Amino acid sequence: MAKLTVNGRGVEVDVDPATPLIYVLRNDLALNGPKLGCGRAQCGACTVHLDGEAIRSCQFPVGEAEGRRVTTLEGLGTPERPHPLQEAFLAEQAAQCGYCTSGMIMQGAALIQARPGITEAEVLAGMEGNLCRCGTQPRVVRAVLSAARKGA
Ligand code: FES
Repeated sequence: MAKLTVNGRGVEVDVDPATPLIYVLRNDLALNGPKLGCGRAQCGACTVHLDGEAIRSCQFPVGEAEGRRVTTLEGLGTPERPHPLQEAFLAEQAAQCGYCTSGMIMQGAALIQARPGITEAEVLAGMEGNLCRCGTQPRVVRAVLSAARKGA
């Protein structure tokens, strides 16, 4: 059993504490923002926030998330009130197939939050572990910088 706070809601799930967080989010809580890519903490598709910091949920045991705040893409913004980075992704057309997009947005949002005056070099370094096979990386970087400039 694990007790979690996910997107501001308290939940209890009947799972082994060693279960990777992404399986609980997707399979038990039907939150399909985080995607399973490599499963080895190397592609960033599964990125979510834990107490505001970006983590790879494919390699994070759910038991270690107890008592902490988990946020997925679904909790970052809403269709009525999107996060500024979600708006910037649309404006820059920073998604192609979209598989990496949730992880990109969660990683970028954590970067902006941690460093409001972030530079292009810092965005490039901070997004290095989030891979896109379609080649949208330059647009992603522009979107993160645009949202940062708007004070996201
Ligand atoms: Fe977690 Fe690739 S699926 S980093």
